[in-house]
Amino acid sequence: MKKDIQISYEYFKNSSELNDIEKKLFERAKVARENAYAPYSEFLVGCSVLLENGEIYSGNNQENAAFPSGLCAERTALFWIGANFPDQKIKKIFIVGGPKEFSEKNPPIPPCGACRQSLIEYETKQNEDIDLYFSSMNDEIVKVNSIKDLLPFTFDATFL
Ligand code: THU
Repeated sequence: MKKDIQISYEYFKNSSELNDIEKKLFERAKVARENAYAPYSEFLVGCSVLLENGEIYSGNNQENAAFPSGLCAERTALFWIGANFPDQKIKKIFIVGGPKEFSEKNPPIPPCGACRQSLIEYETKQNEDIDLYFSSMNDEIVKVNSIKDLLPFTFDATFL
């Protein structure tokens, strides 16, 4: 029997279509991207996170000469927030990525599989969906209203 899974997403042609808080998150993610430590890949990713108390925190990718020891921008931010604000719900996450020398052709950069798994952990933990936006430096933006839209057939704590 064939079954389908449906996911939905929103597409913004450019950042002028964003509301004020979304624009702020986009700017904060771009600043974080500039500070990424990515000398090996020269692929810079920044991420900003809005908490329920209105505070915004950010992270970026942190690479290492022993390549697997590095960490993506999303998990750098998530784990720091999890460690320091364990009771704060995450409302929105904005990711901006692309090569150091980006061109107008670079598409929006979605989170990698390992980051999706970490993201869903926090969404499950807080029992409230997270809005996630991903973009390139070329101003195109994709939004999902839940991490579940990025990770069908999710493995999470409910199976344990
Ligand atoms: N990277 C991220 O920071 N987030 C992602 O979701 C995809 C990949 C980083 C990891 C590595 O430092 C560089 O981008 C190239 O893969």
